[in-house]
Amino acid sequence: MERMTSQAEWLDRAKAVLPGGGFGNFDPNVFIREGRGSRVWDEDGNEYVDYLIGSGPMLLGHGHPEVLEAVLEQLPRGQTFFANNALGVELAEDICAAMPCGEHLRYVSSGSEADMYAMRLARAFTGRDKIVKFEGGYHGMSAEAQMSLAPIKQVNFPQAIPDSAGIPQSVADEMLIAPFNDPDYIRSLLAEYEGQVAGIIVEPLQRIIPPEPGFLELLRTEADKYGIVLIFDEVVTGFRFAYGGAQELYGVTPDICTLGKVIGGGFPLAAIVGRTDIMAHFDKAQVGADGWLMQLGTLSGNPVAAIAGIKSLEILRRDGQYDRLRGLGNRVQDMIRSELDPTGIAYRIVGDPTLFEVVFTGSNPRSYRDVLAGDASLGKHWNDALRAHGVFKSPGKTYPSLALTEADMALTEAAIQAAAKAVVDAG
Ligand SMILES: Cc1ncc(COP(=O)(O)O)c(C=O)c1O
Repeated sequence: MERMTSQAEWLDRAKAVLPGGGFGNFDPNVFIREGRGSRVWDEDGNEYVDYLIGSGPMLLGHGHPEVLEAVLEQLPRGQTFFANNALGVELAEDICAAMPCGEHLRYVSSGSEADMYAMRLARAFTGRDKIVKFEGGYHGMSAEAQMSLAPIKQVNFPQAIPDSAGIPQSVADEMLIAPFNDPDYIRSLLAEYEGQVAGIIVEPLQRIIPPEPGFLELLRTEADKYGIVLIFDEVVTGFRFAYGGAQELYGVTPDICTLGKVIGGGFPLAAIVGRTDIMAHFDKAQVGADGWLMQLGTLSGNPVAAIAGIKSLEILRRDGQYDRLRGLGNRVQDMIRSELDPTGIAYRIVGDPTLFEVVFTGSNPRSYRDVLAGDASLGKHWNDALRAHGVFKSPGKTYPSLALTEADMALTEAAIQAAAKAVVDAG
């Protein structure tokens, strides 16, 4: 049956019950009614090619028939048990086999939690307090992660600036903020704080900024030198950049990594994965009460998410999936280049073919501050025109999915042509 309520009416209703009229995630004016394959439809009936894909999880597209079939098989057998279940073990086996750092795994329900526990785990393992985080790096919503993600003012490194109200100064005092892709800074920071740093947490590709050659290798070497736990946040890159994530693509293995998004096939599931001696701190029997990191969660390892993850990973293991994903991303990037190059407008496509964004700048961004220096107003014209012409994406990222079809490519090309024109008209 057709639902007649429009987006404007839904927004009124949302404002009555939700702060800011939304869930906090995305433009609250948009209400997605349905997603199928590569497309989504809003409550006004507008259809889009989806490059948001649920902020990453729907790599196979919405409602992939094989994933749905697996989930529908599980549902009548129960949604969640809190107790161990075979599907959760099977998925853990698949993930540990896939990830170069994968020895043991602990489930949680969101990437935020996974990152929070990963940092705590580094502290439990080393007995030290300080965590190095990179400016602009996103690791969810814990107090530690909410340091210098999008700082309201630029201060000298390594001072941490909270992004959120409600975080005590004591948390900021234990965080050391560094610029991404700056080897000299990292070397001197770690030398200065020798014996105090528990962990380094990093997105191997920070938001959209690729690591410069040697940077991740340097983090590996320096972490080893000082006995620091190296944490790769692979919530985005895991099972997207390659089956074994960014650690496989870049050939640098962290001590632990965090995963989310793709591994739950669109259901709430995330994980901390890594070396057994570090992961042992989740097990009181191995480390004793003093070294133990208490961790539990109502939905952890729930069988519906687990079976969706198992099936998604099985599909991703099939021949050619990652070549195809990269191929699709490269095609979209080529479309952007062929429209923007002739305009003479300064821009860069920043990222990886599996995840990227157009930044209107004349130089290659190496760090958060470089991206910030891009022309945000041109970026807004670009994104608004894409949306108006049927491309649905976040303002900061373009996520190709494996569900994209030739018809989607044609629509994307037309939208990019319109967006390039909008940028020229605005410039
Ligand atoms: C790199 C990274 N880490 C952590 C998170 C947090 O994950 P979640 O939204 O599942 O809490 C995100 C979410 O987008 C992310 O991009």
